[in-house]
Amino acid sequence: MSAPTLEVHITPEQLGAALRADVAHGLTASPKWLPPKWFYDARGSELFERITRLPEYYPTRTERALLERYAGEIAAVTDPRILVELGSGSSEKTRLLLRSLPGLERYVPQDVSETALRDAARRTADEFPGIEVHGVVGDFTESLHHLPTGGRRTIAFLGGTLGNLVPDERREFLSGIADVLDAGDHLLLGVGLVTDPAILVPAYDDAAGVTAEFDRNVLSVLNKQLGADFEPDRFRHVAVWDPVAEWIEMRLEATDEMTVRIADPGFDVTFAAGEQLRTEISAKFRLPGLRDELRTAGFGEVRTWTDADERFALVCARR
Ligand code: SAH
Ligand code: TRP
Repeated sequence: MSAPTLEVHITPEQLGAALRADVAHGLTASPKWLPPKWFYDARGSELFERITRLPEYYPTRTERALLERYAGEIAAVTDPRILVELGSGSSEKTRLLLRSLPGLERYVPQDVSETALRDAARRTADEFPGIEVHGVVGDFTESLHHLPTGGRRTIAFLGGTLGNLVPDERREFLSGIADVLDAGDHLLLGVGLVTDPAILVPAYDDAAGVTAEFDRNVLSVLNKQLGADFEPDRFRHVAVWDPVAEWIEMRLEATDEMTVRIADPGFDVTFAAGEQLRTEISAKFRLPGLRDELRTAGFGEVRTWTDADERFALVCARR
């Protein structure tokens, strides 16, 4: 059982159509915005992996330490036969958990980035020959109804990606998950917590400029996929902490006035000097508020594990 299988729920054609719709919508809005899933072509996924190794980017190593330390407790609470992971990326940290799940038969990583997913599925299958690995290329906000059946399940959603959904999307996403789970299944979240902005902001605006390159990569995706003529170097990466909404907002700021042609679907976009395009939010949570959101969505008992500085949490909610 060592060759991973892959299922494509969203074809390149469907992705292209979704990208065109998002661009037509977001780049004609005021202020301009783009949804974050378009960062992650092959190069975007690689740049994200570089972010996870930056000295300023504490979330990945903090979450990894939590998984190393508490994998046994998480296993005792969840004890799944099937582990589905949404936005699995490299699945690197997840493998720490897989080792501790004795009853696990299937691991189902799901991501929009097909290259990242193929690579992760192969590595995971190599390391765990006893587990059936089945990758799903898809959008986690859309293909939850394809959830595998055949035993107790845990859905993992790590890396703080829950915080990349805006509050309305988050509410819909959490209740959507509660709806597809059966009693006794679990949701395991890895979320960033509200912490000192002096720690938070550099994690999203590192000295080496990798995050800036990652942010600008979305413009290269539009150039490649839609024949746009963005000059990424004419955009500056900006990361701002919003203390009221309690999220980091990533933006691309036009260095000067410009007109960009989007060949497909065929329109021009003008930017004023200093105009900002919103590319991502990364919400940080407070545990009592997140517990309330989970209860409202339909979850019961909630267990949490945090690091000593309380910068990151693993949150396990029982359906
Ligand atoms: N879980 C990994 C990766 C986090 S980065 C970690 O903790 O390191 C976010 C991941 O979610 C990326 O791999 C990206 O390709 C994926 N992603 C973003 N939006 C998505 C969407 N709408 N549907 C499916 N995957 C998505
Ligand atoms: N899930 C990651 C997070 O919110 C995604 C991310 C990290 C990200 N760094 C970024 C998104 C920089 C956009 C720009 O922490």
